[in-house]
Amino acid sequence: MQTNVRVDGELAEVREGLEGVVVTATRLSDVDGERGRLVIAGHDVEALAGARTFEQVAALLFSESGEVCSGEELGRELADGRARAFERLSTLGAALSLRDGMDALRAAAAQLEQESSRAQIVAALAVFASAWARKRAGQAPIAPPSDVGHAEALLTMLGAQADEARVRALDAYLVTVIDHGLNASTFAARVVASTGSDRVSSVVAAIGALKGPLHGGAPGPVLDMLDAVIERERAHGFIAGELASGRRIMGMGHRIYRVRDPRACVLERAIEQLATALAQRPGSADVRARLTLARAVEREAEAQLSGKQRNIRANVEFYTAVLLEAIGVPRALFSPVFACARAAGWLAHVDEQLRHGRLIRPSSRYVGRPVEAHS
Ligand code: COA
Repeated sequence: MQTNVRVDGELAEVREGLEGVVVTATRLSDVDGERGRLVIAGHDVEALAGARTFEQVAALLFSESGEVCSGEELGRELADGRARAFERLSTLGAALSLRDGMDALRAAAAQLEQESSRAQIVAALAVFASAWARKRAGQAPIAPPSDVGHAEALLTMLGAQADEARVRALDAYLVTVIDHGLNASTFAARVVASTGSDRVSSVVAAIGALKGPLHGGAPGPVLDMLDAVIERERAHGFIAGELASGRRIMGMGHRIYRVRDPRACVLERAIEQLATALAQRPGSADVRARLTLARAVEREAEAQLSGKQRNIRANVEFYTAVLLEAIGVPRALFSPVFACARAAGWLAHVDEQLRHGRLIRPSSRYVGRPVEAHS
């Protein structure tokens, strides 16, 4: 947003929120807000999610070539990293006792050695997040399995059902949110890296940025909203009440997208597939019912927000909430699981910043008290 402030009697331009300001070049991802397109290292998100594993896409971001590989090498490094992180859980009691999952993740991540590799950091976040959720439920942590992919390991460590359909759905989620241009947490990570600081410090800063409800903290409140609505018929009154109270509808709107967030479409498709795969099993009706309700609430929110100057459509967090719930991820863990995926993007950006970047140091306009004359 561009605003003008008066400085010494003259108007000066200020770009609040750095909207539209290009501060770096990246080969990692491209967000086209007008057309609703997300490209990750040369591939449309639709072509990656559901077709590639988290380790394959993380390896793609970490590689220079831009070619999708088997991800096997990174898979081994992640398995090793999970085992190491599990061993250090006993030293993280205070961090993992924190009430908020993002606070716990940030505190635990801060204790990693600053020379940790990218794989070690990504692996550790998954171990810490699941150990925190287990501890919160009064349960002991589960040791990570060594011979499975990262998505399956995460579900296993959580004590959730790790069948093929759920693992595939979680992989689709992790891939969908792995990177997204210069979002707030990635920018935070790059700012820290630009000072010459280490990877762990960058990731700790990024977790802090992701925690905010305007960024990665929305999916929990989206489910709270669906719970409050319960029936499609009540969507109209609920949304109207929220807006009348001056509250924002979580999971709606985006700084860059002027159309529906393409990731919302990808995740909606993943929920459909999961609901179909689970159709013969107990609980499957709930997934489809939840999806139907979510679509109705989205339509209602879209309609009531249509009077705004800009298009306010569903963002990634709207269907993240429905998908993660269907997979069996506890609500309090939605944002930490987002961090587990986005960490790969953060670390790819950190390395890019270290290789090519300059110290990030914008300017500000002083509008404070005029200097007092001292005699
Ligand atoms: N509910 C209600 N109104 C919304 C809204 C929402 N979800 N998102 C934007 N708006 C409105 C604002 O109130 C503002 O209205 P006004 O001009 O009448 O004051 C207008 O749209 C522009 O909002 P602004 O805050 O300038 O846009 P932004 O680019 O900074 O906002 C978000 C982007 C994501 C922060 C915003 O859409 C939001 O808060 N969404 C809800 C939280 C969320 O889902 N976050 C996850 C993002 S992936």
